[in-house]
Amino acid sequence: MSEHLTVVDHPLVQHKLTLMRDKGTSTATFRQLLREITELLAYEVTRGLPMTTRHIETPMEEMDAPILAGKKLALVSILRAGNGMLDGVLELIPSARVGFVGLYRDEETLQPVQYYFKVPEGLKDRMVIAVDPMLATGNSSAAAVDLLKQAGATDIRFLCLLAAPEGVARMKEAHSDVPIVTASLDRELNSKGYIMPGLGDAGDRMFGTK
Ligand code: URA
Repeated sequence: MSEHLTVVDHPLVQHKLTLMRDKGTSTATFRQLLREITELLAYEVTRGLPMTTRHIETPMEEMDAPILAGKKLALVSILRAGNGMLDGVLELIPSARVGFVGLYRDEETLQPVQYYFKVPEGLKDRMVIAVDPMLATGNSSAAAVDLLKQAGATDIRFLCLLAAPEGVARMKEAHSDVPIVTASLDRELNSKGYIMPGLGDAGDRMFGTK
């Protein structure tokens, strides 16, 4: 994957995203749509997974057929909203290993602080897909990728539902080697760090909190 940012403009993705943005959409439907869109985005973000061949026999003849190579990929949820994207990817890649990164924002320094980090072993030999629905300022995403690199990851992709130009720029500055796949590049961040037009607080909408 060479492009730094890929916006998946497939009609199904865009249709489902519009339903998710609508403030009248229920928690249950929001969660279901996020899972469905993530499946479609996962198809795009896993392009370029390493392949090998396996010798098999079809009912007709023998052949060397393509099959995924190497270690199972690692899927890493950036807590808590990233959890809403896990099932969509796991539906397509059930054998993926799963990790979690928890970060909160220090109210004085405004910098992300780690409170949880648990990832599969052998990250350096796996494709790592970090998931977080909202790439807003990019500060926590960049910090999460820092932690994954410190843990040995070298092939990292970032999968989100919405991206703000500010977040994409921050990620490009900090991690130009990490391609981003998203369903939309929205207009801007507002003064409170929300994506505009966005969809509000993704965590609150998927978990029914306020
Ligand atoms: N996180 C969200 O959940 N929504 C935004 O708009 C920005 C960050």
